[in-house]
Amino acid sequence: MAAYDYQTHEFDVVVVGAGGAGLRATLGMAEQGLRTACITKVFPTRSHTVAAQGGIAASLGNMGPDSWQWHMYDTVKGSDWLGDTDAMEYLAREAPKAVYELEHYGVPFSRTEDGKIYQRPFGGHTTEYGEGPPVQRTCAAADRTGHAILHTLYGQSLKEQAEFYIEYFAIDLLMGDDGQCEGVLAWKLDDGTLHVFAAKMVVLATGGYGRAYFSATSAHTCTGDGGGMIARAGLPLQDMEFVQFHPTGIYGAGCLITEGARGEGGYLTNSEGERFMERYAPTYKDLASRDVVSRCMTMEIREGRGVGAEKDHIHLHLNHLPPETLHERLPGISESARIFAGVDVTKDPIPVLPTVHYNMGGIPTNYWGEVLNPTADDPDRVAPGLMAVGEAGCASVHGANRLGSNSLIDLVVFGRAAAIRAGKVVDPSTSVPIPKKAAIEKALDRFDALRHADGDTPTAELRLEMQKTMQSDAAVFRTDKTLAEGVEKMEAVARKMDGIKVTDRTMIWNSDLMETLELTNLMPNALATVVSAEARKESRGAHAHEDYPDRDDETWRKHTLAWVEGTKTTLDYRPVHLNPLTGHNEGGIDLKKIAPKARVY
Ligand code: FUM
Repeated sequence: MAAYDYQTHEFDVVVVGAGGAGLRATLGMAEQGLRTACITKVFPTRSHTVAAQGGIAASLGNMGPDSWQWHMYDTVKGSDWLGDTDAMEYLAREAPKAVYELEHYGVPFSRTEDGKIYQRPFGGHTTEYGEGPPVQRTCAAADRTGHAILHTLYGQSLKEQAEFYIEYFAIDLLMGDDGQCEGVLAWKLDDGTLHVFAAKMVVLATGGYGRAYFSATSAHTCTGDGGGMIARAGLPLQDMEFVQFHPTGIYGAGCLITEGARGEGGYLTNSEGERFMERYAPTYKDLASRDVVSRCMTMEIREGRGVGAEKDHIHLHLNHLPPETLHERLPGISESARIFAGVDVTKDPIPVLPTVHYNMGGIPTNYWGEVLNPTADDPDRVAPGLMAVGEAGCASVHGANRLGSNSLIDLVVFGRAAAIRAGKVVDPSTSVPIPKKAAIEKALDRFDALRHADGDTPTAELRLEMQKTMQSDAAVFRTDKTLAEGVEKMEAVARKMDGIKVTDRTMIWNSDLMETLELTNLMPNALATVVSAEARKESRGAHAHEDYPDRDDETWRKHTLAWVEGTKTTLDYRPVHLNPLTGHNEGGIDLKKIAPKARVY
């Protein structure tokens, strides 16, 4: 057994992660008087939410008619009928409330002439259940919406006396004998001390795992830490095959150019100068949903109509827009284009390419954020003491494809929902159960083994191999052959974890060890992704399978569950929730409106 001293802290709730979902949960918990700690590996306002640009979807109707039912319809269709109906209703219904709360907390939204929150069009957001024109539903703070939300929520959380443990890396969940989560073990990066956070409720808000891929808009910190901890706790991940490619990552650099750019009137062209989206999506054109636009761009490139010397990317034009619009609405991406592509957006098009952006899959939860530990008899069984929110979680509202600006609203609606639920199930008057010694020792042993790992393969080398494999074999378009090869290659990559080499054995600011711990988290996420994708013999949302080009609701309208243990991945499935929260007679959506049909834009 590894001999390490550790300090023990006791809280009602421990939130792991301080992005939009983690901070919204932290704030909501603390507001109710729950003793709440938020532990985060980066300073809260450096969490990846800070990079969210275009905005947050809510049917405020500030720019024209809108309704939560239309928003729900668009989300259902966007998900390619894989999202859970109750969760999607909850998202669309609660969205306006959640946005007005943000406004009252102090988020500096852009404004209309008459002082209302400004809203812009985004892909896949429509009116009249997809029969009307695009709707302006995405509430924006210029193109720095995530930045504005993050700073506001952090300030408010401090005001409510939430306790922040900053630059603490969460190593593992501490699970009790009965499957109850009792806390988390963390490593304080700046002084090397170890900490047991005992809690009645642990909330994983650790973000996505975009860095399992070579080219991603995600920050380098997006290493699927929550998913890794869940897999090691013997719990499943859900719908991991659905990985979103954002149409407009800057070619080469991968940085995001917001969909808001197309919302404000930007458009894509191929090497012939053609606005090709008009051919593929005659109604919504450049504002079709992301999976559709990314596939169309890829097809243009494959058919030889890409731009540039190697004909391997596409042009995004903003140069026809008035300079004052660019200055007022899109200042951030104008700067990114200049720095990362050397382009003056008032004059020239931006070179762009579909780039990994978001994970629809994650830790399965109900719409209160409670983590599920499904069995065949009870597919909705709750894992006690554990919640997951934000991109780490899978409620599931995005199903097989997420609509742009439905991510920020997911963060705040479900961060808030988790806090509402915790207010009901966490009793602040009881004592905090102290995690079992055996669980702490198991986590310490894993930490120690990695700290002293003395194999042949440096972490950076193995990470690159994983990223290249995922990029080529779990891509925008997939085939039986690429996926089978992907599974084989990824399992071989994962086996090499046994021969990993860590050179720095110190405890303070040991980035070598931290990146190795992160790789142990990325690995199960990557394995679950490619194995789940290989098994799904249909095309749905972001899973575009060339050997099975059609959606097959009969067989495949179900959630994939993946348990990853070492290099072995076991799959099972659970049903999609088909029932809404509210009946049509009580003002809920007409189920006929959201019945599955062909998904055209
Ligand atoms: O394009 C964007 O601004 C990204 C938004 C999102 O992913 O929701």
